[in-house]
Amino acid sequence: MASQLFRTKNIDQLIAEVERPERRLKKTLGVWSLTALGIGAVIGTGIFILTGTAAAGEQVLYPSILKAPLLDVLLHGSEAVGISGRPGAGPAIALSFLLVAIVCGFAALCYAELASMIPVAGSAYTYTYATMGELVAWIIGWDLILEYAVSNMAVAVGFSAYLNSLLQGFGIHVPAAWINPAYTPATGWALNFNLPGFLIVMLLTVLLVWGVRESAGANTFMVLVKVGAILIFVFAAAEYIQPTNWRPFMPNGWQGVLTGGAIVFFTYIGFDSVSTAAEETRNPKRDLPLGIIFTLLICALLYVSVAVVLTGIRRWDEMVGDAAPVANALAALGLYDLQRVVTLGALTGMISSLLVYQYGQTRIWYAMSRDGLLPKSFSRVHPRFRTPHISTWVAGLVVGIPAGVLDIGTLADLSSIGTLFAFVLVSIAVLILRRTQPDRPRGFRVPLVWLFAPLAAVSCLFLMMGLPVENWLRLFVWLAIGLVIYFLYSRRRSHLRSAAGMS
Ligand code: ALA
Repeated sequence: MASQLFRTKNIDQLIAEVERPERRLKKTLGVWSLTALGIGAVIGTGIFILTGTAAAGEQVLYPSILKAPLLDVLLHGSEAVGISGRPGAGPAIALSFLLVAIVCGFAALCYAELASMIPVAGSAYTYTYATMGELVAWIIGWDLILEYAVSNMAVAVGFSAYLNSLLQGFGIHVPAAWINPAYTPATGWALNFNLPGFLIVMLLTVLLVWGVRESAGANTFMVLVKVGAILIFVFAAAEYIQPTNWRPFMPNGWQGVLTGGAIVFFTYIGFDSVSTAAEETRNPKRDLPLGIIFTLLICALLYVSVAVVLTGIRRWDEMVGDAAPVANALAALGLYDLQRVVTLGALTGMISSLLVYQYGQTRIWYAMSRDGLLPKSFSRVHPRFRTPHISTWVAGLVVGIPAGVLDIGTLADLSSIGTLFAFVLVSIAVLILRRTQPDRPRGFRVPLVWLFAPLAAVSCLFLMMGLPVENWLRLFVWLAIGLVIYFLYSRRRSHLRSAAGMS
């Protein structure tokens, strides 16, 4: 049994398998459509919502050890309860964005190397299968489902809230029962359903089943609109900056900057999804690394600019509890037209983010099913559209229904912790492959790999420690459920196991 758990896939076999005609996906993507996919995933709700939260800090209503960042608990023990409110970064949130971009940059280099070496759908899941064996691959695949599904639920709920505020601006009031979640921790259950959140996910599901080329085209358009809206915000609002708002720059010192970093990490999630499109890329060895790195650079530049301008036009401590800090900062200056443009851009951003996540999710399910770890129907390709339609529909329902039912604001942290965990494993995978397969061609190599890959792993672990203890517990529960499924179902059906003739 131990030999199965740690049995790795042969990389040549992996690549040969995906070239089989009945398995082949349409190859339509190049470096710019990949970058657009990446930006589509990365810029979602986060920049429009969390920038304010992270700059202003958060007061935790019911302080308990579970709400405290793990790092505080490790450093201060049970005294961490008293300081569990997250200190704001203040104007230095721009610095948090920069630091997190650097952390993500290390991880992005590792993703780029693996993607250029193993251009097969499934991203980190596939990489770990080829390097660390089936059990770790299952864990990471299961973890990626968490990252993609939970972040998309959050984005769908955010979409609904922004749509509602836009409609209200035009005097249209949607009944509360159709816009609120059925459950919130504060109010408990009620007869509500968040219809816009559910419908947007279903609409995108139809688009994805229809075909990647069409979806990528729609995505590129939406990316242009949202990047345009962000640029309009940055340049138009820059005139209203009051440099006094930037003082003090670091009101809560480095602790504020680091806690802010752990919060805004969510805004960078998504660049890794570029690598899930490997099998649909025309020249994956060159285009995947470029797509990943361009995505990260462009997003970091936009985020830091938004952070600098936002904290320049509005004092950081006026943004406490503000659900739409960017839009409200413009309203506070009386710039209503600009506010509407930015809100529309935000909505567009959320749609493209949802699109790429639904896309990435199905490709991971597809890859896991192809390996026998999930039911076979998940890797069936539609005869006409050449897309994995069944996993696309399942992913739509799995995300759409909870988005309609649940209040998932705090789950942005859960999504972050899952992603960071994946980054740690990917960085280790790069090092293992450099040792075990030094001669295999790599379209891209991480420079100074023995420095950068360990730095990626350590800095991701550090950011994880900035997240509340309850998120660590949720991560462990999720992984425990995954292990039960693995040992009861997937392990017995694994194709690798049958190929090895194990009973
Ligand atoms: N990075 C994505 C966002 O900010 C998840 O919404």
